[in-house]
Amino acid sequence: MLKFGGTSLQSREHWETLSSIVTSRLTAGYRVFVVCSALATISKALETLIDAAASGRHEPVLEEIRRQHLALADRINVDGPKLLAEHFQVLERLAYGISLTEHVDPRLRARVLAVGEIMITVLGSVFLASRGIDAQWMDARRVLKSREDRSLLPHERYLSARCLSDPDPELQAISNRVIITQGFIASNALGHTVLVGWEGSDTSAACFAAKLEASRLEIWTDVPGIFTADPSLIPDARLLKQLEYDEAQELASAGAVVLHPRCIDPLRDHCIPLLVRSTANPELEGTAVVNATSESGPQVKAIATRLGLTLIIMETPRMWHSVGFLARIFNSFAQHKFSVGLVATSETCVSVSIDPVHGFPVDAAALEALLVDLESVCTARSIQDCAAISLVGRDIRSVLHELGPAMEVLDEQKLYLVSQAASDVNFTFVVDGKHAGRVTQKLHGILFGQRAQDGQFGPSYRELLEEVTPESRAPWWHGCRAALLRIAHRSGPCFVYDAQTIVDRAGHLKSLQAVSRCFYSVKACSHPEVVSLLYNAGLGLECVSPGELNFAHDLIEDLDPDRVLFTPNFVTGDEYETGFRLAGHVTLDSLRALELWPDVFAGREVLLRIDPGQGYGHHKHVRTAGKQSKFGVSAGGLARLAELAGNMDLRVTGLHAHVGSGILTPETWGETAIALASAARFFPDAHHLNLGGGLGVPERPGISPLDLDRMSEYLDAFQKAHPQFEVWLEPGRYLVAESGVLLARVTQIKRKGEMRYVGLETGINSLIRPALYGSYHPIYNLTRLDETPDMTAEIVGPICETGDILGHARRLPHSTTEQDVLLIATAGAYGRVMSLNYNMRSPAAEILLSLSEPPQD
Ligand code: LLP
Repeated sequence: MLKFGGTSLQSREHWETLSSIVTSRLTAGYRVFVVCSALATISKALETLIDAAASGRHEPVLEEIRRQHLALADRINVDGPKLLAEHFQVLERLAYGISLTEHVDPRLRARVLAVGEIMITVLGSVFLASRGIDAQWMDARRVLKSREDRSLLPHERYLSARCLSDPDPELQAISNRVIITQGFIASNALGHTVLVGWEGSDTSAACFAAKLEASRLEIWTDVPGIFTADPSLIPDARLLKQLEYDEAQELASAGAVVLHPRCIDPLRDHCIPLLVRSTANPELEGTAVVNATSESGPQVKAIATRLGLTLIIMETPRMWHSVGFLARIFNSFAQHKFSVGLVATSETCVSVSIDPVHGFPVDAAALEALLVDLESVCTARSIQDCAAISLVGRDIRSVLHELGPAMEVLDEQKLYLVSQAASDVNFTFVVDGKHAGRVTQKLHGILFGQRAQDGQFGPSYRELLEEVTPESRAPWWHGCRAALLRIAHRSGPCFVYDAQTIVDRAGHLKSLQAVSRCFYSVKACSHPEVVSLLYNAGLGLECVSPGELNFAHDLIEDLDPDRVLFTPNFVTGDEYETGFRLAGHVTLDSLRALELWPDVFAGREVLLRIDPGQGYGHHKHVRTAGKQSKFGVSAGGLARLAELAGNMDLRVTGLHAHVGSGILTPETWGETAIALASAARFFPDAHHLNLGGGLGVPERPGISPLDLDRMSEYLDAFQKAHPQFEVWLEPGRYLVAESGVLLARVTQIKRKGEMRYVGLETGINSLIRPALYGSYHPIYNLTRLDETPDMTAEIVGPICETGDILGHARRLPHSTTEQDVLLIATAGAYGRVMSLNYNMRSPAAEILLSLSEPPQD
């Protein structure tokens, strides 16, 4: 059984692929049965036709539907006008009928919508014949019958019918020819056309497969299988090679659009394997959904995100011990025809989600009526545009405790509802829709990032798309392993930075059209050669203390003050004074400083740091805007500050915001720019907008890097709309994090109880980020880079603290032994600069591998 989705039927190449798949299955000795959806967008166009016909304006829509089919017929060289004339007439007649009665009942709606599938299969059968395939067109309604259920409402019976899928000897004996038929449509006992639910062609195909007792169902679509997350949202989502029926069912219901939720049941009943494959890349194996996978043990397999959810929150103290309360409220949902998705209850509050139907938003009037009705028994309110994020996998309950770090993402986000069903394959929580992308991305990184080697995952969507082999993205240090080993054995623990990586990063940033000036945030890594390198690459320097300012002046002869920016906070008047002396640009971040030291500021020019109200970043400690953060002036304080500045002849020539650090969402800086531009109405002299730093790098393998092109698109759009402003950036991490690694030798390997500890000669005294933020740094055994990492260990240092852990549950080769050199990656930013002498242990030294003579193996 082969099923092709609408996006896999649009071009000649698609149809050539389809015919070669059919041929290859025939050659392999199978009988072949093909089910097709309507052309992509046609089912929606037919819905539009119905609406337009009700007001007599259907002709242009009809014309467009005709045009698309005739164009396809042309592309695949079949006689469209002749083959489709009869079906165009049917559509015309139905539309005309609707225009007369101005009314469409579900039965009529089903008849109109069915025509899309009929037309494509008529064209397809003739195309297959032209390719020498003995194909026979079949009307699915002859064979696929809906289950009679009088309790259903007419729209359910006609538009969302359940079909019978018992083995059908008559169908099995029908013919040896290749049958091509329609998805989505069936008929009822009266012979009327019914639909199996929006985008239900998968379900039709599954029912046909069950009736035929097929050896397998192949669903051919536009993505190469089922992924660990929606690949359009998370390009690093990994292909799932195998899933069990329950997991696939749960994923489909939780929002993974690649499969229709109802298609699993008929397959499971008859143990028919399902393969999801891509028409664009037929050579890829795709995902197999089977009875039992070879993998064992509990695990999260995927994250599904469903957007556009509406939540209804119902509260009343009276529901406590009130018999029938839930029955009463759910009855209201039924009456107003809302299907309830998730439910969470306490003794005084019930929250439920209602799903959008066919991706259309919830009808506002119906929602209002429901709320009014509910008000008679409780206080009811709705929250729109929520997102349900579901973790799907086997025995989810037993892995919940491991999700701790993942839940940190939800810190500061409103969590509206949590639900975990007894089936134990799904754990769902509902957040504000606008945070869904961010939360899903972070969760995906945490849950799947470190499972890069796991055999059940195939390549990532990005790799499939870009055909990037993992090797071609190998980090810089792969090329100079022997040199790094020599350094580690000669110098002991050591941060090593790669000049080329730093210069490349500076080049990327300087190529951003919309950004006029870029300052390197010296605090990220203040190794003198790194700072000089970036200054010589054309960047300015952003300093936060007199210490950093003096360091910059000592380091760089003839340092141009115009390329120095001073961004302190909570400092004394003296420090501002030093700033005005040593830096060309000073950033003010409180009104209080003006009140305390008017003489320091009178007659000067400053940038003003603004708090746009929402902070972002990899950990709550590094989110530097919003209620919890000490930085900047909030929107409410701007008018007063502008007045005070005016009184003391202080010109605010620029505005600044730095909302946090380690941010991977490209829209953030565009949003900051818009917030600053809006604040600029108080400061007519403000002409440069410093959007801060915060540009993140992927912490783990499997996380998408910041998409600089998209970030640049947002900034270009901003610049176009606001050409009066100059845009500045002041990043640190982005420039240096991935250029740096920490090398340290193994001192001892010790087993204690079930744990295995690999001890290193340095620990949190050199790299405190794992202890401080729970940050993840990839760790490799550089001495044994070619060996398979097949044991798990805690990677610890020599400091007298239990928190002296650089990596928790890491995979290293079994053969790892004392004196091996471990490499801790992505350690170039906030590594050595945050190091300590705690326990009187000197932190690791620093070395820059120069541009002129990079050591090579
Ligand atoms: N501008 C200002 C005003 C900042 O406070 C910072 C960093 C930056 C720019 C540079 O941010 P970047 O581009 O490097 O994200 N220790 C933390 C990071 C703290 C960042 C402090 N401010 C960590 O290890 O992740």
